[in-house]
Amino acid sequence: MMEHSHGSDYVFETLCSVDISMAFSASHFSFKHITFLQILPIILTIPTQHTIGCYTSIISFGDSLADTGNYLHYTQYSHSTPPNFAFPPYGETYFHRPTGRCSDGRLIIDFIAQYLGLQLVPPYLGDGEKNVITRSEENFEEGVNFAVVGASALDAAFYKEIGLDDPCGNFSLEVQLGWFKEMLPSLCTNTSSGNCNKLLQSSLVLLGTIGGNDYDNAFMAGLSFEEVQSFVPLIVNVIASAINELIKLGAVTLMVPGIIPIGCLPVNLAYYNNSKEEEYDPLTGCLIWLNKFAEYHNELLQIELNQIRELHPHTTIIYADYYNDAMRFYLSPSKFGFTEGALTACCGGGGPYNVNSTAECGSPESTSCDNPSLYASWDGLHFTEAAYKWISQGLLFGPYTIPPLNTSCVLLV
Ligand SMILES: *[C@@H]1O[C@H](CO)[C@@H](O)[C@H](O)[C@H]1NC(C)=O
Ligand SMILES: *[C@@H]1O[C@H](CO)[C@@H](O)[C@H](O)[C@H]1NC(C)=O
Ligand SMILES: *[C@@H]1O[C@H](CO)[C@@H](O)[C@H](O)[C@H]1NC(C)=O
Ligand SMILES: *[C@@H]1O[C@H](CO)[C@@H](O)[C@H](O)[C@H]1NC(C)=O
Repeated sequence: MMEHSHGSDYVFETLCSVDISMAFSASHFSFKHITFLQILPIILTIPTQHTIGCYTSIISFGDSLADTGNYLHYTQYSHSTPPNFAFPPYGETYFHRPTGRCSDGRLIIDFIAQYLGLQLVPPYLGDGEKNVITRSEENFEEGVNFAVVGASALDAAFYKEIGLDDPCGNFSLEVQLGWFKEMLPSLCTNTSSGNCNKLLQSSLVLLGTIGGNDYDNAFMAGLSFEEVQSFVPLIVNVIASAINELIKLGAVTLMVPGIIPIGCLPVNLAYYNNSKEEEYDPLTGCLIWLNKFAEYHNELLQIELNQIRELHPHTTIIYADYYNDAMRFYLSPSKFGFTEGALTACCGGGGPYNVNSTAECGSPESTSCDNPSLYASWDGLHFTEAAYKWISQGLLFGPYTIPPLNTSCVLLV
């Protein structure tokens, strides 16, 4: 199913966070958004036994920073055009085949699972033949992942109302939450305890990243900076509603990431290549206005998380600071082994940032670096496994989670 067929029917997926192009014109900005997370500096041997009192499963929602196969499976059973990440060299580093992850290897969610001694979190969707949503045949005892590449925070109805196409498909946060609720009864029946409350109590819920695709699509559609900025409170609201709903269902520990420094993404740097010198941060080479946009989202999100914490003192709502966690790469790339810098993609179609919208990573026209671990960026939009590992470590061992994750749950050997 995942053979690399560079035949004539090969078409790049350019929707949503998969695509690498951003638009910026005198009248509007657009940026692409992506998700990354992950930090793990320390190499550990990962045992499989569980620590008493720690998380027994991971339940995940989000976009391409967290998708472990849902979008790819969706294109398979719906017979849609395979996305660029259905082809090598995606997946080359760890899985040695494309898995539907937007990276050369593992994502933050994979590292977190491994550090918690859990199996890698399987995607909810399977690769069934029928043109219907097909749940995968996986065993979901230790977690289930609903994240979909390109997913938006706001739903299809919202976009219809404001007259914008939602080119990402109908995979909004609410849709993902609907899948979860639908599955919950059988999920609980199948767990050894058979008890939903217990299952959710001992689960780590990862809620994001989500929202970046909304901003990106809106910019692409020609909305002004101010118009897109007005989406931020709406998106933070959607995230808050999802958190509240999950708490009602019994979730106790939720980790909610902010968005990454999108002004540092090679796709955006390539797209806005005509920016004036003063638009770049002299320390990092990143686009200041795009990073400010990300920080604005993250600020409103944290204010909202504080309010939820006050209303639900029995819960642990963790803010995952993906922004500052990843910002380290741009401030001092060589400290993390990124000797090729953090602003150039390992895999791409040439140009100053190795990003070329007509030759995306995975296409026959693209080329890939020999050693992805020397790069922070994999395809211009998403991080390499090496970068995700650092991000994961920054989350698990600090200081990029507020409050810190219970480290007694992290397996150190
Ligand atoms: C999106 O999916 C949900 C649930 O699967 C469905 O109820 C809704 O009608 C769909 N909306 C659109 C616009 O397709
Ligand atoms: C629960 O177990 C049944 C029977 O083995 C299986 O058909 C179903 O898919 C399982 N559900 C989940 C959510 O794993
Ligand atoms: C800048 O980007 C445009 C398209 O976004 C491209 O046509 C042009 O060649 C790029 N310039 C440089 C110097 O890369
Ligand atoms: C982008 O890719 C196209 C198609 O392979 C190629 O013709 C073009 O030269 C590339 N641009 C750059 C700047 O490498």
